[in-house]
Amino acid sequence: MKIFKILFVAFLAISFSGFSQTPTDFLSKEFHKSRRDALRSKMPANSVSVVFANPLRNRANDVDFVFHQDPNFYYLTGYREPNGVLVLFSENQTDENGQSYNEILYVQKRDARAEQWNGKRLGIEGAKNELGFKMAFNSEEFAASKINFKSFDRLFIEKFNDDYRNSARDNAEVYDLVLAFKEKADYNPKNFLSPMKKQIYELVKSTPIENSANVAQIIGRALVYDPSLKNDEDLMKFKDATSNDLKKELKQKISLKLDAKTNIDITFLSRNLATLREVKTKEELVLLTKAVRISAIGQAEVMKAMKPHMSETELQGIHEFVYKKYGAEYEGYPSIVGAGNNGCILHYIENSKTKVGNELVLMDLGAEYRGYTADVTRTIPANGKFSKEQKAIYNLVFKGQEEGIKGYLIGESMGKPNLIARKIANEGLFKLGIIKSVDEKHPYFPHGTSHHIGLDVHDPGNYGNFEENMVVTMEPGIYIPEGSNCDKKWWGIGVRIEDDILVTKNGPVNLSAEAPRTVEEIEKMMAKKSVLNDFVLPDLDK
Ligand code: GLY
Ligand code: MN
Ligand code: MN
Repeated sequence: MKIFKILFVAFLAISFSGFSQTPTDFLSKEFHKSRRDALRSKMPANSVSVVFANPLRNRANDVDFVFHQDPNFYYLTGYREPNGVLVLFSENQTDENGQSYNEILYVQKRDARAEQWNGKRLGIEGAKNELGFKMAFNSEEFAASKINFKSFDRLFIEKFNDDYRNSARDNAEVYDLVLAFKEKADYNPKNFLSPMKKQIYELVKSTPIENSANVAQIIGRALVYDPSLKNDEDLMKFKDATSNDLKKELKQKISLKLDAKTNIDITFLSRNLATLREVKTKEELVLLTKAVRISAIGQAEVMKAMKPHMSETELQGIHEFVYKKYGAEYEGYPSIVGAGNNGCILHYIENSKTKVGNELVLMDLGAEYRGYTADVTRTIPANGKFSKEQKAIYNLVFKGQEEGIKGYLIGESMGKPNLIARKIANEGLFKLGIIKSVDEKHPYFPHGTSHHIGLDVHDPGNYGNFEENMVVTMEPGIYIPEGSNCDKKWWGIGVRIEDDILVTKNGPVNLSAEAPRTVEEIEKMMAKKSVLNDFVLPDLDK
């Protein structure tokens, strides 16, 4: 009887685990709660933050793009569906039943028909039990909620990009939620300033008239980034003004705009979430390390498998197969696989060359594992051996990377590794005769070397000094496209080496070290046999 009972329990356990064979290593609800508490502790008294989930975006006809959550929203909630809103209060609020709460999550309504087509929704119960919210409602209740956003001293939101559409499939899409919010909060973009406008107005206000030529120049440059500044007549007149009297008059008018009357602030959330997100917790580091290791192992597998007859897409597929084999749900950004001159296009994602031939192949790919994305690049010779020229450029980039990584130390400036790698590149390019002097302005090192990674491949941060548990790329690159002003033998060589470095008390730790990096290590790995050598498919042209 007892053995029967044990067998029955075992049977049930197996059946249930069979049903729930989905990943269980996502961030815990305690993690997300701790992030909300951390943000709340930065909010001033009588303030409220409102964060929107991402919408679904349409691909064509009745097919949508694969949904991906907004990273800030995910960080704060753990909710992985579209069309939600988080409302976070600085102090406890009390509802009409006397219940106290300091946060509300609005989620997609459970809907049997929609779930039959597109998968299970968490709904209110899930938001409470699985995400740990005491107070949760259906998103369609947001518009009628009693929250009086106007009554708070400060109302924090992120800048609306207005890039969602109204599919009219239901009445609580992000489109509807934002519309309802704008009405409830008396949102009028004319009443508050974008971060760029605010900075410029402050500059106009604080700069003496005799130095206003500098300000005019800065306004000119700012126009490139934010063409909407053109709509500010006073600012444009100030930029072009020649008479000091006119400048004085305009300066006064512009200074007054800094006192615009609204409680809405669109800079607080992005600034403070960047401060939180740039330093990773232990839980985040487990997932991020996994994403990076998966990506590095993908690079090593491709090194073994690469043959000159292969196409860029095929190589991309091998990396991505390794990601999926490890259960990574997405690529963190569109994969970049570029042979020869294609490797000189920094974000080349066409990956359409049908034979990589005897060229260098630049491969910049990152697995996304439970939301966290790696960013790893290797550049390798398709035929397994670096040519003399390829090796010369490769080793320059490598040396810059090695020396740069040594600067990933707590308290050091995050800008320094970039300068170190550039200096080494300039000296080397000069020695090779590619540039005429070490100070020559040249186009061969066109990007910076260091950015945070995390829930975004370009994770937000303040870019001050390195702190413990930051994870930052080190990615120098030298690119010499066809037609460059140097000996033809260098043309079509593009090299980027990118690793993901964890800053620790004991110095830098290269999380992507499993991908061979030196010329010798790469050539050795490429000489190994790949299981894919025997993976031969029918030739469709025969
Ligand atoms: N993969 C994009 C970057 O390296 O920044
Ligand atoms: Mn990068
Ligand atoms: Mn990259």
